[in-house]
Amino acid sequence: MTTTRVEIINDFLAVNVKPGKTIQDIVEASGSALPFGCRDGECGTCIVMIESGMEFLSEMTEKEKKVMKMLNESSPKARLSCQMKIVGHNGLVRLKY
Ligand code: FES
Repeated sequence: MTTTRVEIINDFLAVNVKPGKTIQDIVEASGSALPFGCRDGECGTCIVMIESGMEFLSEMTEKEKKVMKMLNESSPKARLSCQMKIVGHNGLVRLKY
């Protein structure tokens, strides 16, 4: 099975993951310091900026849209780590927190 590479820029980390994995899975497996709060798309603690590879991530959820509004965050790069999944093969996702 093919994988997608996820780079967490702040931590100088890169992991190859199978589609279906969440960023939360990746963070837990890699030792990244990316913070989480509620883990349910409500608090906004896990917000990240996708520097590239948005096309390899699941669509934005209603919960994400609501939190972005609450945080007054309008950047098209902003996503919630606890809500998105890797969906593409052979991709590269680069993110910052
Ligand atoms: S951890 Fe609360 S929104 Fe993701």
